[in-house]
Amino acid sequence: METSLPKITALWAVNIITWNPTDEEFDDALSTISAYERERICQLRIKEQAKASLIGRLLLLYLFNSIYNIQWEAIKFERTKENKPILASSVRLFIVLAGLSRTSSWYLTLLFLLSNQVFPDIGVRVDFNVSHHGDWVVLVASENCRVGIDVMKIEEPYNENIETFLESLREQLSKTEWDAISAPDYPILKLHRFYRYWCLKESYIKAIGVGLAMSLKKLDFHIDESEGHEYGACNPVKTKTRLFVCGTFMAEWHFRELYLDELHCIAIAYETNNDCINHREFDSATIINIKDVLKKAVKVC
Ligand SMILES: CC(C)(COP(=O)(O)OP(=O)(O)OC[C@H]1O[C@@H](n2cnc3c(N)ncnc32)[C@H](O)[C@@H]1OP(=O)(O)O)[C@@H](O)C(=O)NCCC(=O)NCCS
Repeated sequence: METSLPKITALWAVNIITWNPTDEEFDDALSTISAYERERICQLRIKEQAKASLIGRLLLLYLFNSIYNIQWEAIKFERTKENKPILASSVRLFIVLAGLSRTSSWYLTLLFLLSNQVFPDIGVRVDFNVSHHGDWVVLVASENCRVGIDVMKIEEPYNENIETFLESLREQLSKTEWDAISAPDYPILKLHRFYRYWCLKESYIKAIGVGLAMSLKKLDFHIDESEGHEYGACNPVKTKTRLFVCGTFMAEWHFRELYLDELHCIAIAYETNNDCINHREFDSATIINIKDVLKKAVKVC
């Protein structure tokens, strides 16, 4: 029986500043996503947030349209009770069938159809996650492994100094993390380190989909000293960070951390015990032009 290896299929980034739609263009773009999501986005009071959320949704549609050749209007999403977007079951079925046909095993395809069961070890299980903050919207997608992403703009707090801001979030951090964050003399370096840990924590909780239900303090990230704490747009991607949850090393969880520009860092969390995953292929994000996405978009009811 052929098994598909886990792999990352997309790491995309859209700079939201480069898309300045007129009201009419914004409404046209909105008309290409589901009515439910359209309504949700229209309720967002801050225009930039609405734009970012819309771009995230368009990227998800573009992913399944361009990689899995599913017609735009046939792609449907649901949300888990923790609000994580997932594919609707009908679309999951389509992808599993496509994966089965790639194995050329018509016997298995027939068996699948007749028994109406999902074979977890054949076909493809697609996972994806979106994040938006500051100037960027990012998407990561994978086959046969759970994946999560977080982007953060590193910005100084508006109404308090960095030290007070960090102190107020200390409860969310493990001792190792707090010690690492508070080590540098310069507050701005502390802030950079804080955002690195913040991104890591969010990428993991988003990969497992628990949202705010999980205490972030339980997650204890260890930065590999050989890669160093400091990183930036010109530095190599960090790959050796390890996660401990309640003291247990999470050997199957891997992290990649990179900067999109001087002020935006991203962390990607993915779960695999398989060395064959194409780690190297996502050392940088592919910049997507939202106008190219909209060329593929189709109005939906
Ligand atoms: C929703 C949450 C999962 C992430 O929120 P966030 O970091 O503010 O937002 P991001 O931009 O990274 O991600 C939002 C997107 O994640 C997706 N998402 C929503 N709920 C999700 C969940 N439970 N799991 C995974 N992804 C989820 C959605 O696509 C959402 O975009 P949309 O609202 O436009 O549909 C939630 O954990 C949260 O609000 N966390 C903040 C908690 C905190 O205080 N962290 C401190 C770290 S030290």
